[in-house]
Amino acid sequence: MVASLERYRSIVVLTGAGMSADSGVATFRGPDGLWEGHRVEDVATPEAFRRDPALVHAFYDARRAKLDNVEPNAGHHALARLDAQWPGDLLIVTQNVDDLHERAGARRLLHMHGELKRGWCTACDRRFPWSGPMGEPAVCPGCGQTGQVRPDIVWFGEMPYEMERIDEALMTADLFVSIGTSGAVYPAAGFVQTARYRGARCLEINLEPSQGSIFFHETRLGRASELVPAWVAELLT
Ligand code: APR
Repeated sequence: MVASLERYRSIVVLTGAGMSADSGVATFRGPDGLWEGHRVEDVATPEAFRRDPALVHAFYDARRAKLDNVEPNAGHHALARLDAQWPGDLLIVTQNVDDLHERAGARRLLHMHGELKRGWCTACDRRFPWSGPMGEPAVCPGCGQTGQVRPDIVWFGEMPYEMERIDEALMTADLFVSIGTSGAVYPAAGFVQTARYRGARCLEINLEPSQGSIFFHETRLGRASELVPAWVAELLT
């Protein structure tokens, strides 16, 4: 660990759907991906929600319900161990809307694309925890209005959360690690370029080279549930 600490004070980890794939959560792109069965424009834009809220709610209600049947995998547990034991700065930025990082125990975590288990009332602008189906009749626990609650998910065309905090962390990172993301969606896909430009070592862990693979110093190909524990063990020993 002393050697790691001398090399890296500050780490930023970015995770994507591939992180949770070994837990049985569907990824977006690829043969069985969520975007193979659904058009993004139908379920993941503010326009889609205005046009057909029932369809959008059904899509997210089903994904929320699935969370009850999945568990964090060895990769999530390894990142939680890193969080608990790494004495330097660490920020885990996830694009995932599942709750597997926190269920594994990660604390220095932010959900840049929102969370399935949170709702957002468009009438009073409050955000709050949510479990079970949301559906159109959902009532805001804050203002009591019906029909104004939407999943607290960042849809296409909307600004991801906490970009300032993420940018600050990327600017000062010595090590940037991207896990299980295709690199198809910005701004997350551009984090590697920011981190690298500012001098961070950049490591990618993914089943296949991502779209931004050339920007990384090193790419490790394989399953996150196997490669992440190995990488964390390397860093902490
Ligand atoms: N271990 C590691 N990587 C894996 C695994 C695994 N077990 N299984 C799949 N992968 C890789 C795939 O090869 C792919 O490159 O994970 C990546 C998943 O890519 P996407 O499905 O595109 O998911 P992600 O990059 O998280 O998508 C970004 O797109 O639609 C949006 O908002 C959604 O947050 C999401 C964003």
